[in-house]
Amino acid sequence: MINGKPYLDTDGNPIHAHGGWMLDYGGYTYWYGEDRRDNHYVSCYRSSDMKNWEFRGHILSTDSPVSHTSGRFDLRLSWQKEPLPEANENLIVPGGTGKVNIERPKVLYNELTKKFVLWAHYENGQNYLDARACIATSDTPDGEFTYHGSFNPFGEMSRDCTVHTDSAGDTYFISASRDNADLHIYRLTEDFLNVDEWVKSVYCHEFREAPALFEKDGKTYMISSYCTGWAPNQGKWCAADSVTGRWGLLHDFGDSTTFRSQSAFIRKQGDKFWYIGDRWSGQEYFSSSYVALEIQFDGDGNPYIEYTDEPELFN
Ligand code: GAL
Repeated sequence: MINGKPYLDTDGNPIHAHGGWMLDYGGYTYWYGEDRRDNHYVSCYRSSDMKNWEFRGHILSTDSPVSHTSGRFDLRLSWQKEPLPEANENLIVPGGTGKVNIERPKVLYNELTKKFVLWAHYENGQNYLDARACIATSDTPDGEFTYHGSFNPFGEMSRDCTVHTDSAGDTYFISASRDNADLHIYRLTEDFLNVDEWVKSVYCHEFREAPALFEKDGKTYMISSYCTGWAPNQGKWCAADSVTGRWGLLHDFGDSTTFRSQSAFIRKQGDKFWYIGDRWSGQEYFSSSYVALEIQFDGDGNPYIEYTDEPELFN
């Protein structure tokens, strides 16, 4: 796999797992991400060696089954009515009339319920004003997920998002709020089907998005981007003693365009950490690709990346 070029699955087709996430389960690594073709929303691939990726299915689409959880969220997965007066064509990304947007899907395995729980960013497909989180569940990592709806956590706006399980075993949902000005950190309920507590807001008015977290040597790190739509910008890293603790200052990560990418998630492989970013092609969304770079650490524990074409992780 070459950074910035299509990553191919074992059938030779480009991998559509944008804004993605990886989950280890049962001897496989599952790679989930956005797939906006036809009526699809989220696709799933799996691998046992990080090199050969087998397409496993479209796990969320306009036709997915829907059901309420105890939180009675909005179950609409498509719209068929007239466009809203505020419809903004510049913001509506490919997918076709009637589709909503499901962005940055992340999948967790819940030990208590034995369910795979997906969290993502939801927009109505006509403008970006709903700014909601949405959830879906499945009994298997790559089966058809049942959609449980979209909602505003504690009534708050929620756009670019990620999840993070810390070494204490708590799982958090982190998303851009207040029109992307602030990042909110929420702890999830034990079944991962709702937010349990709005822990704190961080980086107020810094317009950070695309958050991706990892923990190393007792520190929690977050990589994020600035808010410039599909255009890449200067990535930043920051750290805290715990997710709920005091977050430090933002420092540059990568070059002024983060090597023409935007953070998607961090992959820990052995004792190495890998930055996985999207190299978006805004108007040509379907030719968007990926950039994977090893995160290195200087003597003070500060993370940095250097550009290379062929990431060892995937080759
Ligand atoms: C970016 C965001 C992407 C997508 C895009 C749409 O800022 O990180 O996930 O929402 O905007 O313009």
